[in-house]
Amino acid sequence: MEDEHRQTSQKDGTSFSLEDGKKLLEFLVEKGLDNDTLIQRYDEKSEDYNKMQTVRGYKAPTAIADTLASLYPSNRENVQILDAAAGTGLVSVEVRKRGFVHIDGLDPSEGMLEEAKKSNLYERYICDFLGDNTLDIADDTYTVLTLVSLTSEILKKLSIKCYEELVRITKSGGHILINHYDYIFDSDDIKGNLAHLEYRGMWKLVDKQYVVEKQNGVRRCTCVYKVA
Ligand SMILES: C[S@@+](CC[C@H](N)C(=O)[O-])C[C@H]1O[C@@H](n2cnc3c(N)ncnc32)[C@H](O)[C@@H]1O
Repeated sequence: MEDEHRQTSQKDGTSFSLEDGKKLLEFLVEKGLDNDTLIQRYDEKSEDYNKMQTVRGYKAPTAIADTLASLYPSNRENVQILDAAAGTGLVSVEVRKRGFVHIDGLDPSEGMLEEAKKSNLYERYICDFLGDNTLDIADDTYTVLTLVSLTSEILKKLSIKCYEELVRITKSGGHILINHYDYIFDSDDIKGNLAHLEYRGMWKLVDKQYVVEKQNGVRRCTCVYKVA
């Protein structure tokens, strides 16, 4: 029987089923991969990434864009956004639909950023990773930083130094929005690091928003932090 979530490419007529999407996701999120192998996998599969998310009914970009729109009801053209772990730019697509125009994208996978470039989704393309490194971005550059669906294994290992770096490049009074599966935020490491920055007065959790993806039953959460 024909899969109701099958995607057919207009370019070459090939189709992509929900089963294909599940297999690709398993390949990308396999546990125990070192960073280089993980990025290589994203490079290799970058052309299939959007198809995978379409068949899976991925709603994180829409959810984050709606949250952003409610936080910034006017003067959206003045809001400077960094989309970290930008991938192929699905977040930018949704954010742009709501009138935001200044969006930079950061991702370590050149292949994923190349896909975003095809549709001109970012102003600056920053091929770099989030970790213990200092980013080539000046202090207080962005009004908003979005971090959507960063690979779970990487998110779990992000250090305090990395969160400090995100705060450093975000303006005081601006927002950092982190979206992932709801249960990820219960992981001790992530919970501890996020709370530690709040304890030190660097940011404050001002909202948590939830959305359930109908197609896969997954509950996602957006944590909204206001930078001090
Ligand atoms: C599931 S995709 C999410 C992409 C995009 N945010 C979206 O919602 O479609 C995960 C992305 O995280 C990126 N990534 C992996 N390790 C990273 C790191 N250390 N820092 C930043 N991004 C990373 C991958 O290259 C990939 O593009």
